[in-house]
Amino acid sequence: MSDVFNKVNLLSADMKTATSGGPRPLYRVLDSRNGEALLEGRRVVMAACNDYLGLSGDPRVTQAAAQAALRFGTSCSASRLVGGTMPLHEDLEGRLAAFLGVEAAMVTTTGFQANLALAPLFGPGDVVFSDRANHASLVDAVQLGAAEKRFYRHSDMARLERQLSAADPAAGKVIVTDGVFSMEGDVCRLPDLHALAVAHHARLIVDGAHDIGLLGAGGRGVSEHFALPGAVDLYTGTFSKCFGSVGGVVAGSAEVIHFLRHTSRAMLFTAAMPPSAVAAALAALDIIETEPERRVRVFEVARQVNEGLRALGFDTGESTTPIIPVRMGQTEPALRLWQAVLDEGVFTSGVGFPAVPEGQALIRLSLQAVHTDAHVARILDAFAAAGRRLGYTCAPSPAPVGSQRADADPILAAAR
Ligand SMILES: Cc1ncc(COP(=O)(O)O)c(C=O)c1O
Repeated sequence: MSDVFNKVNLLSADMKTATSGGPRPLYRVLDSRNGEALLEGRRVVMAACNDYLGLSGDPRVTQAAAQAALRFGTSCSASRLVGGTMPLHEDLEGRLAAFLGVEAAMVTTTGFQANLALAPLFGPGDVVFSDRANHASLVDAVQLGAAEKRFYRHSDMARLERQLSAADPAAGKVIVTDGVFSMEGDVCRLPDLHALAVAHHARLIVDGAHDIGLLGAGGRGVSEHFALPGAVDLYTGTFSKCFGSVGGVVAGSAEVIHFLRHTSRAMLFTAAMPPSAVAAALAALDIIETEPERRVRVFEVARQVNEGLRALGFDTGESTTPIIPVRMGQTEPALRLWQAVLDEGVFTSGVGFPAVPEGQALIRLSLQAVHTDAHVARILDAFAAAGRRLGYTCAPSPAPVGSQRADADPILAAAR
């Protein structure tokens, strides 16, 4: 007789390696703050945390969260729809809409749910065009919807154009893409996506989880970065990265937001974002709007690490952001390098299938504005020593910190 629990034995080989014996990058217990972490009694450099601007430990943000918890309690214990909407939620929605230059915003309990909340837009007779490297939550939103689905090769604009041209001209069309891709740290090709959307009468939805707060001189994300205001029809975003909190947002036209507020199951049937998290996001938004130097710093840290890793002979792909992949291919060497880097005192993410396609395992670094030059040096020293120990191709020493490329990089230029 079959047993639904039998499938627990079917964990992929990659996952088995990562969860049993040997190097174990998953579900490690640590205490992390300000670019460092305490891991099993040892202080390590934290390079696996998406708090790019370093706001989760900023006293203005932590105090706002603490005061909101004391004043309003720890939970709304109700859906936004029925009793869970507080003035704080509406403040945050108004502030975010103004920040992004759109009519309205809807705050959800997580960033994952912000993407799931899109599903009612993907109806029968519509076609959704989705980048293959999009985040799982965006993929799930597409799967949840009733529209036809077309997945195009990562950032392959020619493929997307062919798919758009082949679609029924009468169908409702929508392109969905991450703004910054979460595993490889590359930026979406917004100018091309916008041009294709206009040419084919398609809507463009951008998941700004990794770019709102970070890209563009004012931190307004990819549309500011590419100087294309109005190119994005609908944004989603999260507060778990640049905002040092947790929660999500969908932002765009008032009509669309009104529709989603009343139809999205990920909005209707879940408890509201708690007051402490909303207050933290509001305090973080104040800082995002007034302290551009944090963006400048995190891009400077990222540039130093990226150049240093390349000088060591590691392949860091197309990243121009604080997410830096070290491409390894097979899982086993990736895990061995991940462990060796940790032995040298730096905690990174070891990433394999299904977060990336089979055979494209990588080590993912996330850098933060609170990383110091000493942290950067420790990260590069750790990769140099680990690479040497394992016999991977490795140049003798990292590039000197602070060299080259800053002005050639459009993202760094935009951050300045
Ligand atoms: C691109 C992208 N979208 C959405 C999410 C989900 O956000 P959250 O973890 O805040 O729910 C993530 C999280 O890693 C992400 O990387």
